[in-house]
Amino acid sequence: KITPVLMAGGSGTRLWPVSRKSFPKQFAALVGDETLFQASARRLSGPLFGAPVVMTNSDFRFIVAEQLEQAGIAPGAIVIEPAGRNTAPAILAAALMVAAEDLDRLVLVAPSDHVIPDAEAFAAAVAEGAGAAAQGRIVTFGITPDRPETGYGYLQLASTGGGPQPLGRFVEKPDAATAADMVAAGNFLWNAGIFLFSARTMIDAFRTHAPAYLQPVQAALDEAKTDLGFLRLAREPWAEAEDNSIDYAVMEKADNLSVVRFSGRWSDLGGWDAVWREALGQAPSDTGVVTDARSTAIDCHDVLLRSDSEDLEVVGIGLSDLMVVATADAVLVADRSRAQDVRQAVSALKAKR
Ligand code: GDD
Ligand code: MG
Repeated sequence: KITPVLMAGGSGTRLWPVSRKSFPKQFAALVGDETLFQASARRLSGPLFGAPVVMTNSDFRFIVAEQLEQAGIAPGAIVIEPAGRNTAPAILAAALMVAAEDLDRLVLVAPSDHVIPDAEAFAAAVAEGAGAAAQGRIVTFGITPDRPETGYGYLQLASTGGGPQPLGRFVEKPDAATAADMVAAGNFLWNAGIFLFSARTMIDAFRTHAPAYLQPVQAALDEAKTDLGFLRLAREPWAEAEDNSIDYAVMEKADNLSVVRFSGRWSDLGGWDAVWREALGQAPSDTGVVTDARSTAIDCHDVLLRSDSEDLEVVGIGLSDLMVVATADAVLVADRSRAQDVRQAVSALKAKR
């Protein structure tokens, strides 16, 4: 069975005020009834998969444990990173943990803040990549791009065939001009941020491309302590590991990447506009209105109205192209085209304090 490794240590400011430093977006129910983290764990709980390993930090450990319990999913391990060092050391730590049991076991690393509504199609894509992964490839999953997004990695297809195919190039977060060229070229896919590999292959890739991680990450594991059922990595060696993403540390350099095209719906919910679009994708409406149980739209079109507070009703009248998101202590009202600027709200509020 494949060991799923869920990355749940990041935070997102563009989904303020629901996403907070102490409660980031992956733990909120942004689309549907389950939280993004729960939906991700459920997606990776089918017959292909063993018990999940969750990589997180001290602040989120109880949220992780509680949300897994609520979803009825028993974790293999909940690992606490003593400091956020981005995804490279966390993925190496997971690979080393799995390797201690079975070097050839397959590992599927996945973010916990994405929406992939069709779990079956996703499992089929994973199954499609398993053979290549067992033969020493690092399998990536590619999404057909619909805009020159600069916040993603790009996967260059070497051929037009289906099935897992060797990757031409991996380009992480290009500048706008490069992104536009790649989308126009037509032979690039977005990197979904999901990777399938054997524990052995990932450890070898670090040995070749980022060897400085091995000693500190192994030491952090060797000196790890079990604490109330969580595995707490050792702080001092962990601090020695460089802060970098797997994309820059390994993927851009590796020459054994393959790609499986994933054609189901996929969104990384990078802002309230994406939440709005995703909700409409799952439940289309002629007026483009998205509301929840505590919000009401009268004569509105193309709006998102949402209340995450039990004590607050949101009512919109005659609105268009607006996003209104209320929580117990903050209300966001923004033009729909300004979704990416929501991160400025967070810095503006910080500056005021
Ligand atoms: N455990 C842990 N520790 N998780 C982390 C950490 C960390 O220090 N930092 C980030 N994560 C988690 C995030 O919560 C998210 O689930 C995942 O790792 C990816 O990190 P992001 O910070 O969201 O990466 P990104 O969105 O900028 O880029 C990645 O994802 C894109 C697709 O959404 C890259 O893989 C891109 O190439 C890709 O296109
Ligand atoms: Mg992301």
